[in-house]
Amino acid sequence: MEIIIAETTEEMSRLAADIVERQLLRKPNSVLGLATGSTPMGLYKELVRRHQQQGLDFSKVISFNLDEYLDLSPTHPQSYRYFMDQQLFNHVNIDPRNTHVPYGHVAEVEEYCAWYEEEIKRVGGIDLQVLGIGADGHIAFNEPGSSLGSRTRLKTLTQQTIEDNSRFFDDPDQVPRFAITMGVGTILETREILLLANGAKKADVVAQALEGPITAQITASALQMHRHVTVIVDSAAGSKLKRADYYRWVHQEKKRLIPRLIGRVT
Ligand code: PGA
Repeated sequence: MEIIIAETTEEMSRLAADIVERQLLRKPNSVLGLATGSTPMGLYKELVRRHQQQGLDFSKVISFNLDEYLDLSPTHPQSYRYFMDQQLFNHVNIDPRNTHVPYGHVAEVEEYCAWYEEEIKRVGGIDLQVLGIGADGHIAFNEPGSSLGSRTRLKTLTQQTIEDNSRFFDDPDQVPRFAITMGVGTILETREILLLANGAKKADVVAQALEGPITAQITASALQMHRHVTVIVDSAAGSKLKRADYYRWVHQEKKRLIPRLIGRVT
């Protein structure tokens, strides 16, 4: 695991965009795993900029999003499909048919979740997975207590997640209570992971997830078992990391010696 402490949220987003860009240059038909929420918005903005100004090419990219609220239609402004269209897909040359966001209005949830897993396998698996972390330590909507081997399924959201996400809804009662989400096991099978976190509100949970024990109570801690994870936090989100000085030192040394190693060697 490589932990990079960026000075600012903007730097976090730029460094994250560098990793996505390098992936697309290496493999133009990459399968990207994408996340919603406030955290990756700067990353998507930067990718849109690089597409528009530098020709970063998404024409062969396939994407799978982590999760979607149950019972929200794709046109609902708070649906994650709508978010992805607005933040990224509508502004780059990705083929909309290659973008997958779980469908919230599905009748047969179990069958649909199994199909989603199969689709990921059918295209060869996810090359690079972007993740945020919830204040309760979740990755995707894998709330505390989720099996670390879990697959795509329906989850009940915690009170904290409902409260955290109510800021996007006019009325807190409108926040859905359920979501379809990739499992921790699904995420651990991706080839490379990019975890982002910004802001002081995430500082405690970032330290617990990265430096505490692996536990289903903080599902992000399962990333400690993955062989290729890059974590990029801003200085506020990284402020409770006990080994911050070491992570900074590692990053400086890698930059000084072999810049292309950043994000390559854990
Ligand atoms: P946020 O959500 O990016 O809006 O903080 C992160 C998450 O819940 O995974």
